[in-house]
Amino acid sequence: MEPVGIDAVEVWTGKLKLDLPETFAPQKGEDPDKYRKGIGLVGSSFPDLYEDIVTMGANAAKRLMDRKGLTPDDIGRIDVATESAFDNSKPVSTYIAGCLEQYFDGEFRHANKGERKFACVAGTQSIDDAYNWIRAGRNRGRAALVIATDTALYARGDPGEATQGAGAVAMLIDEDPDLVEISNEQGYGSMDETDFLKPNQQFPSVDGKRSMQVYLSRMREAVEDFESVAWDMHPDDFAYVPFHTPFPGMVRKAALLGYRHMSRDTEIEDALADEIGRQPREDDYASREAYEEAIREYMDALKETEQYQAWYDRTIEPTLNISRQVGNWYTGSVHIARIAALQYAAEEDQELAGEKLLVGSYGSGAQAEIHAETVQPNWEQEIAQLNVDAQLQARYDLSYSEYEHVHDSHNHEKGAVDIDDFTEPSDEFVFTGWGRMNERQYEYIE
Ligand code: HMG
Repeated sequence: MEPVGIDAVEVWTGKLKLDLPETFAPQKGEDPDKYRKGIGLVGSSFPDLYEDIVTMGANAAKRLMDRKGLTPDDIGRIDVATESAFDNSKPVSTYIAGCLEQYFDGEFRHANKGERKFACVAGTQSIDDAYNWIRAGRNRGRAALVIATDTALYARGDPGEATQGAGAVAMLIDEDPDLVEISNEQGYGSMDETDFLKPNQQFPSVDGKRSMQVYLSRMREAVEDFESVAWDMHPDDFAYVPFHTPFPGMVRKAALLGYRHMSRDTEIEDALADEIGRQPREDDYASREAYEEAIREYMDALKETEQYQAWYDRTIEPTLNISRQVGNWYTGSVHIARIAALQYAAEEDQELAGEKLLVGSYGSGAQAEIHAETVQPNWEQEIAQLNVDAQLQARYDLSYSEYEHVHDSHNHEKGAVDIDDFTEPSDEFVFTGWGRMNERQYEYIE
């Protein structure tokens, strides 16, 4: 069976940046270290006034198609994952295809287009759909374009305002991929939850603290489900573990749980026994409360061990290199975590071909998905072509009052604000206004 996976990736960040410790925290009367150390974010990306989910997605896809020498005929499906859609009927993929058709010769007339929704996990679900379509032999030799694009904005004053972000990741899913092969095995943890939702409203209703507990519970269930069809995982099985990253502080919590789970009944648990004791087993406790208290104490001690810290620095920390500068990209977040890890590995000249990644995706509402990926021989050539650092460096650094105007201008209820663009578009798609049926319109700017 030919391997199926991610052949190519491209990223497009919103062109504006809000410095969280230096610009946002002082206005909120908060300690900048809450951002640098606690939440773990130093910046958020925002769309300029001419940017939105369509322009960011189309610009990432255009870079990808240009670079891979693709035409619309090479693409058999376009799936867009987003939770920032502005239309309840016409999918964002049609708008993006319309943009791309302005630039490339040909049309996506025989491509299947759709839009996937399940909060942040929808990006991974779209990859899944593409994988299944290829495995079923229905692709006629064509590849799938998966685009995860979001403007993760919260209402002003909501605690989630600290974790905003905006950007898109375009991914080409194909046979014999250059970047990673995706495992056939996958695990799910899924429950009807009311932790983060947008019931016909632009900004989410969020129960922030609870959403973190739900993330951890569903992720644990997905890991157990994955192991039931794959293998009992060991912390050393993976070169990197990219997680959905609403903010790096969340991943710190998930990573510790993952390590505890994977090191149970291994030589790691034995080696740590003298220092911090063995992992608590529920049967040894008279009540659930006593067991949970013992787990908390064990986790606090585990976090401080050299073994855990070395594993965290090797497999988790590099996955956060982009997220910490851009905030939450919702559907794209886990995919920039993968890219960040691979970029780091390339900078460090690591031999990664054949190594495994464990990918933990998550969407509120709530569902986690776990699968493994195997890095392919051409990964380094592929990842070397990205220009993420240049895009991040080129962002316009907003003052606080500029940030307020930008937030207002992307607020559907407030509408356009009378301010100029902050950056000059070039060689990209831009939003130009509304048409006669209230459709959004786009143009390619040379
Ligand atoms: P908050 O109340 O502003 O922050 O909201 P906090 O007071 O809890 O502080 C955050 C951390 O910073 C804490 O660390 C503090 O101790 C630390 P922790 O105790 O948790 O380890 N801290 C400091 N550290 C060092 N020096 C200091 C300092 N001050 C504080 N001076 C919250 C945080 C996450 C609740 C908020 O930002 C929020 O509501 N965010 C939105 C919801 C969210 O991101 N949830 C994550 C899980 S759900 C998810 O990932 C899905 C999602 O992506 C949506 C989707 O799927 O579509 C959101």
